[in-house]
Amino acid sequence: MSVKSKLIYLTGFMGSGKTTIGHILANKIGWDFLDLDKLIETETGKKISGIFQEEGEEYFRQLESEYLKKISHYQQHIVSLGGGTIAFFDNLNILKNSGRIVYLKTSPEKVYARLRFKTDRPVLKMQEENDDKNKILTRIADLMEKREIYYSQADIIFRTDNLPMGKAVDLLAKMINKYI
Ligand code: S3P
Repeated sequence: MSVKSKLIYLTGFMGSGKTTIGHILANKIGWDFLDLDKLIETETGKKISGIFQEEGEEYFRQLESEYLKKISHYQQHIVSLGGGTIAFFDNLNILKNSGRIVYLKTSPEKVYARLRFKTDRPVLKMQEENDDKNKILTRIADLMEKREIYYSQADIIFRTDNLPMGKAVDLLAKMINKYI
């Protein structure tokens, strides 16, 4: 079987740069870019945070898996997944059978720094609860650790922590070259 692949999936924790890197990477290699969360928002006409609030996480996870199944038939797309996509239902198998997975690995501190003023990450409950930095950092680190078992099954594990964006994309483009 050829190592070439029709889809490259970007996985990793919230705030790991999946969408930002995905956009630039797609541009660089001449593929289309697709963001799974954005697709769900466009198709449902609702914000992800609104879906969590009104229908709950379980409903969101079902939607997420449904849309993942649909896009797994696409060709030549860089797909930015949600931070939890890989960890639910048989999503990991769908990913493995339909493309190559790149894990953008980052530290809890970086995630905290990038997301601390954001209000659209319902899983972390950053603004709802009056927690201090340490409590939020612990929450991020715990969830990251639970998900590591899924993330670590990626074809490529790429640390984004201390790399400027341009450099990260250049390196990643070289690494995925064998799959495109
Ligand atoms: C989630 C991550 C979010 C989004 C939803 C749940 C998670 O995507 O899918 O809020 O469980 O980690 P990003 O990773 O793009 O922020």
